[in-house]
Amino acid sequence: MKIVILTGAGVSAESGVPTFRDKGGLWKNFRAEDLATPQAFKRDPKLVWEWYNWRRGIISKAKPNKAHLIIAEMEEKFGVRLITQNVDGLHQKAGSKSVVELHGNIWRVKCTHCNYKDYDYSVPLKEIPPKCPKCGGLLRPDVVWFGEPLPEDAIEEAFYLSENCDIMIVVGTSGVVYPAANLPFIAKYRGARVIEINPKETPISSIADLKIGKTATEGMEEVYHWIERSFK
Ligand code: OAD
Ligand code: ZN
Repeated sequence: MKIVILTGAGVSAESGVPTFRDKGGLWKNFRAEDLATPQAFKRDPKLVWEWYNWRRGIISKAKPNKAHLIIAEMEEKFGVRLITQNVDGLHQKAGSKSVVELHGNIWRVKCTHCNYKDYDYSVPLKEIPPKCPKCGGLLRPDVVWFGEPLPEDAIEEAFYLSENCDIMIVVGTSGVVYPAANLPFIAKYRGARVIEINPKETPISSIADLKIGKTATEGMEEVYHWIERSFK
């Protein structure tokens, strides 16, 4: 039985990381086009970096929650594969080893001039905006901004996993950002059963074979026991 998990910001909510579209979410307080677009970065790299620096500060204090930990355990025990839209790295911190990161990683920087790319965990950043140690060019966060394509290898693997799974568990995503939001529909179309864990209704709820209207930690606990039984 091939199981794939797709996560969104809701899986990190119980770790204290703000989501994007909920009450108090990032897109309620900030305009995405001012901060998360290539145009915004071109206009004001310092402002964009200050926002990322602030988010990195919040995430650095966050610990993986029970949902992250259960997902990591499911990879080890049952070979479950994980696709995430999150950039916070909490899945890796929880022990997930092979994470398909659709939207990049907030802890990685990349140069806008040369091919330099590396992890930088400093909080706060030593210099804003940070400069490339190789060529002195402007560094940017290695995340996907609105209007940018997703990393090719990540989206290819995500499509492959979605097309070839028996069960897809969708946790804590509003299902409105494409192409990630397409993945449950692809899985369903190819015959997989779709389980959704989300306290709210989303566009994915309409195709879910099982909807668990609970938080990520409660919902994952429930699903874990169920999967464990069926693997015995
Ligand atoms: P959203 O903020 O759009 O949605 C978060 C979802 O999590 C909502 O459907 C909530 O109901 C749900 N939720 C909230 N608390 C939860 C909890 N404790 N347990 C389970 N679910 C909970 O976040 P995403 O769907 O991840 O893109 O957003 C998708 C993309 O939009 C992000 O990756 C980001 C953003 O713009 C980029 O940065 C490219
Ligand atoms: Zn460079």
